[in-house]
Amino acid sequence: MAKHHKKYKGILLAGGHGTRLYPVTKFSCKQLLPIYDKPLIYYALTLLLLAKIEEILIISTPTSLPVIEKVLGDGSQYGITLSYQVQAEPKGIAQAFLLAEEFLAGASCMMVLGDNIINKSDMSSFFKKAMQNNDGATIFGFPVRDPKRFGIVELDTDNKIVSVEEKPQNPKSNIAAIGLYLYDETVVEKAHRLTPTVRGELEITDLNNLYLQQNRLHCQTLSRGDFWVDAGTFDSMNDASNYIRLQQKYTNLAIGAPMEAAYSAGFITQEQMQKYT
Ligand code: DAU
Repeated sequence: MAKHHKKYKGILLAGGHGTRLYPVTKFSCKQLLPIYDKPLIYYALTLLLLAKIEEILIISTPTSLPVIEKVLGDGSQYGITLSYQVQAEPKGIAQAFLLAEEFLAGASCMMVLGDNIINKSDMSSFFKKAMQNNDGATIFGFPVRDPKRFGIVELDTDNKIVSVEEKPQNPKSNIAAIGLYLYDETVVEKAHRLTPTVRGELEITDLNNLYLQQNRLHCQTLSRGDFWVDAGTFDSMNDASNYIRLQQKYTNLAIGAPMEAAYSAGFITQEQMQKYT
């Protein structure tokens, strides 16, 4: 069995009110809504599996968490351990590290937001390299058309981060920080130092700025041809569904298939994979 990144643990943040998806999220759990042929959460879970992470904490709301747990179980079908943690109120993305303090127990981690979908070739080696090279924290950049809606990264000519700003009025670049992050073992201590914004949230961008102040925040920009979407609105969910449908149809490869990712990570055998699919 391949065990490349034993010291990295995974956090899948899948909470929030889903207000942009009302009325659907009044009755259904956002993370289980379909993106083409799979629940949204499968795509984020698959990323963590492709990164060969064996211990994952799923954080969600008091109402959604039990539903997600019913679907994903203890993770044994993927050869991993899944645990679950309630976030009582959406008090910010960075609050995840306070909730995960016991789970992390001083480990480094990869965090992914539950509504992010990424597709690129050779994802496992991309992650392996990023995890091995991570010094402090690594964020991942993707060029967008509407930079005012995201955390925005400004890079110098050597690809060093100059600034990271959350939803800036005057964006300094069009590179968004996507919802995927690598942090070293100091993340919990740093999260404790954050103060809430006027909206009462602990901002992930403030956390990243603590790493930047130490010159230990790095950015890996995705390449030409890679795909990223934050599937948090009806429009982007529809776009993502269309993208996944066409990609799968014309490449004959599944995207966001955790069972397949678990097999390619060496966590389960071919027989185990077939038993569940
Ligand atoms: O998608 C990438 C963007 O995600 C980044 O560029 C931004 O820097 C980052 O702040 C975040 O921006 P959003 O506007 O997308 O954040 P939002 O509040 O919508 O939360 C993103 C996801 O995280 C969403 O699925 C709900 C979940 N969430 C959010 C908060 C604030 C939680 O589970 N708990 C929370 O407390």
